[in-house]
Amino acid sequence: MIPLLDLKAHYETIKEEIDKAVAKVIDSTNFILGPEVQALEQETASYCQTKFAIGVASGTDALELTLVACGISAGDEVITTPFSFIATADTIVRAGAKPVFADILSDSFNIDPEKIEEKINSKTKAIMPVHLFGQPAEMSKIMDIAREHGLKVIEDCAQAIGAESNSKRVGSFGDTGCLSFFPSKNLGCFGDGGMVVTNSKEIAENIRLLRKHGIKDKYNSSVIGFNSRLDELQAAVLKVKLKYLDKWTEKRQKVASIYESLLKDSLVKTSLTASSIRHVYNQYTIKTSNRDELFKWLKEKEIGAAIYYPAPFHLQDVFAYLGYKKGDFPEAEKAAKEVISLPIYPELTEEQIKEVVSAIDSS
Ligand SMILES: Cc1ncc(COP(=O)(O)O)c(C=O)c1O
Repeated sequence: MIPLLDLKAHYETIKEEIDKAVAKVIDSTNFILGPEVQALEQETASYCQTKFAIGVASGTDALELTLVACGISAGDEVITTPFSFIATADTIVRAGAKPVFADILSDSFNIDPEKIEEKINSKTKAIMPVHLFGQPAEMSKIMDIAREHGLKVIEDCAQAIGAESNSKRVGSFGDTGCLSFFPSKNLGCFGDGGMVVTNSKEIAENIRLLRKHGIKDKYNSSVIGFNSRLDELQAAVLKVKLKYLDKWTEKRQKVASIYESLLKDSLVKTSLTASSIRHVYNQYTIKTSNRDELFKWLKEKEIGAAIYYPAPFHLQDVFAYLGYKKGDFPEAEKAAKEVISLPIYPELTEEQIKEVVSAIDSS
């Protein structure tokens, strides 16, 4: 049996350090917005090449608080990909705005910059690219479009902490980068957690206010806010893990390169990555026209696999009111039919990778 993800094996590698860090917080009884969160914010800002970082309760909240902090609300439109986790689009709706989709590129599964411009109108306020599976979206083109039209850029970095394009880290291109610390992410905590990274002092201050009910001075709120704080226990776990993130990323890249070389003569299609890109492989995703059969076969062989994502946003019931139809985003629809993600994590051995590949070859 090879799981899609092995959090137990991962924990075992740093158990002592984590247990000590958690015990220290419990002993301090300082559970909310204390020194651990503050230190992690500084370290994460520096890791992401930004000036500020604000810990919040989840990646979803990082997106929603950013939208609110950027003043996006009813009547506004935000352009994003139709192929991602639901939080990318549902946060736009919760902020009161309308998600407008632009199709993806078939190789990277990321939003196609060429498809963005035709969606821009006077209501458009922001572009929300997602660095899907750990691979950066085409940020220099996206930033050019945003500058030309005076739009905000909110980077959904939930799956891509540490990913780079031309040595620049995701989250440092746009107005904000939104991180998720969900346990399955490359930097995962022991529950929910998230962070906004930004170079804008104004946005940083706004998000600090919003995460704490808009309270500026004690019990004097200036805006309607949220209760969305990263807690000290999660921050303590993350602070230990952040030190190892680059080492783990290298291991993920090694796993991907072994898959790449072993799968090159098989019937599945692996994805290509430009040399200017640092892909951090939160997922290793391949494409095949007989995806459903392969998924069933791997399940029978007790090999963990997952389909991220079986339905593009525009074909999900929740967005029926937007009026899209089948055929509107052919690349996203094709990806939804063909993608399958294979086991990838730093502790995955070469032997296990070979077992996965031999199961694929015998399907
Ligand atoms: C692309 C993407 N955006 C947003 C999120 C939301 O993050 P969280 O689960 O921490 O709320 C996720 C996490 O699953 C994600 O994968």
